[in-house]
Amino acid sequence: MGDFVTIYEVGPRDGLQNEAKPVSTDVKIDLIMRLKEAGLRHIEATSFVSPKWVPQMADHNELMAALAADHDDVSYPVLVPNLRGMDAAMTHKRVDTIAIFTAASESFTQKNINCSIHESFERFAPVVELAKAANIKIRGYVSCVAGCPYEGAVPISRVAEVAKKLHKIGCYEVSLGDTIGVGTPRHMQDVVRVVSDVMPLSEIALHCHDTYGQALANIYAGLEKGIRVVDSSIAGLGGCPYAKGASGNVATEDVVYMLNGLGMDTGLDLNKLIDAAWYISDHLGRKPVGHVANALKPQDKQ
Ligand code: HMG
Ligand code: MG
Repeated sequence: MGDFVTIYEVGPRDGLQNEAKPVSTDVKIDLIMRLKEAGLRHIEATSFVSPKWVPQMADHNELMAALAADHDDVSYPVLVPNLRGMDAAMTHKRVDTIAIFTAASESFTQKNINCSIHESFERFAPVVELAKAANIKIRGYVSCVAGCPYEGAVPISRVAEVAKKLHKIGCYEVSLGDTIGVGTPRHMQDVVRVVSDVMPLSEIALHCHDTYGQALANIYAGLEKGIRVVDSSIAGLGGCPYAKGASGNVATEDVVYMLNGLGMDTGLDLNKLIDAAWYISDHLGRKPVGHVANALKPQDKQ
């Protein structure tokens, strides 16, 4: 197992989708550019979901049009729930990766995307077909891998079943989402072990929310089991509007600080990440939620 860990940044999407205060497209682009400057190469930019459901992502067309001017070797994946979203996403040449999303819990799937898990796969079928024909990579999300806000405990076998299906239909990577942050390290190791029986370990990512302060411990537990792709959100922004009590994702700068200490490589510049964390937090009128950006404040914040 190598020592390089790929950080998949979700702040501009998973983070900003949950902010009550509107964030302008210009600020989002500025943030994305700062994240790129810090070395991130996978920056989930927005969602092509219904603006009635998630108004924070309603500027998806403007945002992706602005990113068309960016010619660097950076991927800006976008969330796509259905064919309507795929048609819109495909009008943007900067879309080289889409993320389709479902869950291991029926109630959460209903609340989040208004259909059953089975129906979510029916919706994905034409999306996947278009993506494959256009050489667009497909990432898959399974939410509620450690618990559901409506159903409580979620059987690991159900997580594995959904992850296997996503992998089978063509997802190059499946991200296991502890949407409400209830997971603890040994449980997450069990989840990783059971899912890696049905798909390659190297294609599994962990997506931890920090609601109960377990995210770093869970990521460390995942690393011990061989996980090498970690989703995180700058400044610890985020939550899911359809998961009551879901706080932000683990902060990117906290994950990178831990990985640096472990002697693992991410290719990222921690100081630039901290600057980006303060940039967006200043716009939101608060301090970064994560720890490291507060412990290592930039000079002008001392
Ligand atoms: P629906 O209401 O069942 O769909 O929503 P519909 O087909 O009946 O359409 C309803 C209206 O939405 C129609 O408009 C459609 O045209 C429009 P109207 O006729 O009423 O004017 N519509 C769309 N508009 C724009 N883009 C689209 C689109 N589709 C339909 N793609 C739908 C179904 C999936 C659209 C809706 O439930 C939805 O948008 N849900 C998104 C929820 C969401 O984004 N949640 C957060 C992301 S998931 C997450 O955060 C978890 C994750 O981070 C991992 C983890 O932490 O676990 C990934
Ligand atoms: Mg999430």
